[in-house]
Formats: sequence, C-alpha cells, structure tokens
Amino acid sequence: MKQLSVAIDGPAGAGKSTVARQVAKQLGLTYVDTGAMYRAITWKALTNGVDLTHEDAITQMAKNTDLRLSMDVKGSDVWVDGTTVSEEIRSPEVTSNVSTIAGQSKVREVLVDKQREMGRRGGVVMDGRDIGTHVLPDAEVKIFLTASIEERARRRYQEMVRRGFKVDLEQLKKEIGLRDEKDKNREHSPLRPAEDAIHLDTTGLSINDVIGRILQYCRTNVGSG
Ligand code: DC
Repeated sequence: MKQLSVAIDGPAGAGKSTVARQVAKQLGLTYVDTGAMYRAITWKALTNGVDLTHEDAITQMAKNTDLRLSMDVKGSDVWVDGTTVSEEIRSPEVTSNVSTIAGQSKVREVLVDKQREMGRRGGVVMDGRDIGTHVLPDAEVKIFLTASIEERARRRYQEMVRRGFKVDLEQLKKEIGLRDEKDKNREHSPLRPAEDAIHLDTTGLSINDVIGRILQYCRTNVGSG
C-alpha cells in the first residue's frame, strides 16, 4: 500500500525545512529537501565555472550528477558525486545565485524527475515551492507555510549566524523580498499554493506549535501515525 505523502511549500524562511524534518521524524517518513537539490546544482556549476545562464549546459550537468539526500539522527546531508556539500550549499554565494537555475524549465524537469522517483512509493515529507502543485499533486496532505517578511528575515539571520556567516539583517530582508518576487513571478512552476493546500501563517508561532498542528492534521485527516 502507498504510504502517506506530505507536501510542504512556501517562501524562503517560512520554517519549511525545520518543520518538515521534524514531521518526517515523528511520522517515520523520509524527509526530502528539494531546495537543497537546486542549491547543489548551483554549487556544482559555480565550483566548475559553468555559466549559470547556459540552460543546456546546466541541464546536462544536472543529468550527469549523482545527487543524493540522506537523513540521520544529526540531520540531513546532501551529496554531490560522492562528496558531502551540506554546508557549502548554504553559502551566500549559492543563495544569491540559485534563483537563476531554479527558473530554468529544463533543469527543473531533471530535478522534478528525481523528486518524483523519491516520492513514488510515498512515505515522504517533501518541501519546496511546487511540491503540492506539480511534483506530488496527489499528496494526501498539502501545507502552505508563510510568515511575515520581517520574521522570515530574522530566522534566516539567526540561521546564518549560527552557521558562522557574517550577514546584515536589512540586507537579508531585501534579498528575501527579491527572491520571493522571483519565485512567485517566474514562468515555470512559480511559487503558489495548491488549491487544496492548508494555509498556515507561522508568524508568532513556535516551531513546536507549527509541527504540532501539522501532525494533528496528518493524524485526524489521514489516520496516519
Ligand atoms: O528553500 P531554499 O531556500 O533552500 O530553496 C532554494 C531555491 O530553490 C529558492 O530560490 C527556490 C528554489 N526552489 C524551487 O524553485 N523549487 C523547489 N521545489 C525548491 C526550491
């Protein structure tokens, strides 16, 4: 029998990855961070000096990349061609360039194929921008997470400081606003809620509140967990 699939979409900094990881853990499902996949391809292109605007070259590179996500007790790891790049893909350089690659339809097709393969048998909590609308349209539970831009910038700031990067809060706010616009207005798979998604505004809620609500929703509506 196909296991439960949970799709969690929303803008940058809404708390998707923290929440998705915990929901997966509590329900015994696999967490798939699709943003990390776009970031991994961006990191590889930057590292190898491949022109980010050259869609065919990036697509070919994505097809030839052994891209793996793994999850253990410590958290999730991203592997590119056998090397772990979990920290590298969070750098400001990757963050400011990833929208270019995420806007390319052929690159998206390659990554979406990989994501659908990971979700084929269910048993996943997948987060991103187009999971409920495009990657897993049949997911039993679809959540659209949002938060005010101030709160999202504050969370990103804390995360970056924790990772040892030097960042400016106002600058981060500008960048998040810019990335929101790009994600929402791009031609291919723009960020938007699925019609059957539950909207959850996390401003002022603790992470545990958000996780609790999603778990409750999964349990009461799908009878899982
Ligand atoms: O969630 P994140 O910040 O790690 O995502 C990185 C970038 O990838 C972001 O600009 C949006 C894009 N993305 C996407 O277009 N589709 C997804 N399913 C996931 C992320």
